Amino acid sequence: INLIKKMLVFLCKVSLWDSDEPIPRTDLLQGVSGAHGILCLLSDRIDAEVINAAGPNLKVISTLSVGFDHLAVGEIKKRGVRVGYTPDVLTDATAELTVALLLATARRIPEGVEEVKNGGWSSWKPLWLCGYGLSGSTVGVIGLGRIGLAIARRLKPFGVKRLLYSGRTSKPQAAEVDGEFASLDRLVSESDFVVVSCSLTPETQGLCDKALFSKMKKTAVFVNTSRGAVVNQEDLHEALSSGRIAAAGLDVTTPEPLPTDHPLLKLKNCVILPHIGSATYSTRGIMAELCANNLLAGLTGSAMPSELAL
Ligand code: NDP
Ligand code: DGY
Repeated sequence: INLIKKMLVFLCKVSLWDSDEPIPRTDLLQGVSGAHGILCLLSDRIDAEVINAAGPNLKVISTLSVGFDHLAVGEIKKRGVRVGYTPDVLTDATAELTVALLLATARRIPEGVEEVKNGGWSSWKPLWLCGYGLSGSTVGVIGLGRIGLAIARRLKPFGVKRLLYSGRTSKPQAAEVDGEFASLDRLVSESDFVVVSCSLTPETQGLCDKALFSKMKKTAVFVNTSRGAVVNQEDLHEALSSGRIAAAGLDVTTPEPLPTDHPLLKLKNCVILPHIGSATYSTRGIMAELCANNLLAGLTGSAMPSELAL
């Protein structure tokens, strides 16, 4: 935020919500009035109301994220407003976190750490805290985009035998990881690990539901680092608590933050992180710079480093 501030205050009149906490809706609606540009976070819902509140000056919306499901893209396009976002620069960090979450979930690392602290570690026991390994496994990636491919690249060296992926179209770049394009049904029924890395769209909203979990192996580990709304959490809870699937690791939930009394948090076989996929110091710095440069390009009518094709 400081980097963005430094870049912008010399060039524009900036009205800044100077806090890490999300801006309250009323302050957002007031603050954008008359603005030529809006720089937002994924926690800010930029819909027709916000665009109307900004008024006819608005030329550009720049989001500090690659995901853009919080933007009313149809409405924005209709008004000729340009959108900047932050693809590529966070791919490695997010893929790395996904691998960490997958391993933590499959090998029950948070449970193990807890047992050491609470005295549950009595001795070495043959089957205690056993989990599932990647070697010789089949991994299914739902959405082999930039991040999905980066996850696949990192998982392959663990000895993954088969890599399946699903999506709207097959991807030539999947050859690099020996990826096999598969229907979603086949992917979930054959995979030992199911990793969700697609974008949130009307088509993917609630995609991971009871029907999908019921096709998965009982020993399968499910990991989601895309958006919470891709998963029906009640159905996931049922699948985890009934032993329908083995475990789940989530970096994203609905809502965010997840209330501390949420039923998913009571399950030992569910590992939940607070949406930290891209959270490395260097990645966030590069994202901030890109986001500010996108905004400036939008304001001056020049080519943006990363413009979303609307
Ligand atoms: P990309 O656009 O490169 O990839 C998105 C993928 O989603 C595409 O390959 C697309 O496939 C796929 N997709 C779209 N619809 C479907 C569908 N119906 N079924 C399966 N796949 C589908 O984006 P990125 O890889 O850069 O980012 C992906 C998402 O990850 C972001 O949108 C964001 O929500 C999330 N993210 C989360 C982070 C975190 O902190 N946890 C950090 C960064 C991103 P196709 O081309 O075939 O349509
Ligand atoms: C994104 O960029 O969409 C992530 O969720 C946060 O980096």
